[in-house]
Amino acid sequence: MKTVVLAYSGGLDTSVAIPLLKERYDYDRVITVVADVGQPKSEIADATKRAEALADAHYTLDLKEEFVEDYLFSAIKANGLYEGYVLGTALARPLIAKKIVEVAESENADALAHGCTGKGNDQLRFEVIFRATEFDVVAPMRDLNLTREWEIDYARDHGIPVAVSREKIWSVDENIWSRSIEGGELEDPYVIPPEEIYEWTKSPERAPEPETIELAFENGVPISLSGTATPGVALITKLNEIGGAHGVGRSDNIEDRVLGLKAREIYEHPAATILLTAHRDLESLVLTRDELRFKAIVDAAWAELAYEGLVDEPLYADLAAFVDETQKRVTGNVLVRLHAGSAVVVARRSDFALYSEELVSFGESSIDQRDSEGFSKYHGFQSRLVQKAMR
Ligand code: ARG
Repeated sequence: MKTVVLAYSGGLDTSVAIPLLKERYDYDRVITVVADVGQPKSEIADATKRAEALADAHYTLDLKEEFVEDYLFSAIKANGLYEGYVLGTALARPLIAKKIVEVAESENADALAHGCTGKGNDQLRFEVIFRATEFDVVAPMRDLNLTREWEIDYARDHGIPVAVSREKIWSVDENIWSRSIEGGELEDPYVIPPEEIYEWTKSPERAPEPETIELAFENGVPISLSGTATPGVALITKLNEIGGAHGVGRSDNIEDRVLGLKAREIYEHPAATILLTAHRDLESLVLTRDELRFKAIVDAAWAELAYEGLVDEPLYADLAAFVDETQKRVTGNVLVRLHAGSAVVVARRSDFALYSEELVSFGESSIDQRDSEGFSKYHGFQSRLVQKAMR
């Protein structure tokens, strides 16, 4: 008996992978795992039902809390953005891959499988975790060089119901942090995305009246929404609803994939936009100029590793340790105004604020302005020396 454990999403690729793993790879048992990282409930239910019908055994794992607390909180603290992308899919893959390994160990399986193609980042993110184990690794979509058209026909022949059609052929990847939409006519970067691809966000053109929300952060992590203490999963879920209603968090990027391919990627991520905007603003209030400058470099390096799925690279933990150290003072409140697709910070406060109204004010102040004369005399001193030398 040869057993393979498949990371299953309920979508076309992983659905056709189930019979393919038996027909083309001779596995006797295919065990599927649906990782619930915050996809819509109906989708988890559909995927579970479908997996139970197609696979020999199935697991649906609720990973929402772990995803938020172990991955998304780190992303907030590190202002996690890769080329403007909020790192949704990228952060979920390592967690999913680790859970697949755990299931394979408990089931005494022989192999691990994923449904990624050979063109994207996800194959790398899964396999960097998979290949650190003794299990065989199978990637049928990549091996067999399959196209979506072929998969649709194969699925029909095998009685697998498919949600995509030749016209609406988007490939969607969703978790609580972001919804990514790619493929079909969107592959032409000069095509304006049709409104129907969006599910989390209303069109900013049809936005309601502006709304201001209050977020409280403690040590860089959001803890409450408009005065109500709210744990991570609930907070992000709520912010996706509120932000989505205001059309906040749409993005359309030309993204450099790890392989070097440029891809057109469209995302929806209302909560991520709001939280990252608020967090970055709060940091500007409490961190020193030197900390802010250096942290921007650390944040970018962290995001690159996260994008590549290299969460077991020691540098990832090293950078995260630096980031955590800086978050000790990132505690306070931020007011964010949501309107017509934008999330703008309109007020902020913190007990650790380095800002002092008394010092900076145009009015009475304990700063004696005359002390700055000496400073001013020598500011840019070397430029003056150069100008003199060049005369
Ligand atoms: N480009 C993003 C990333 O690499 C998202 C990929 C999502 N996959 C999908 N089938 N829509 O993280």
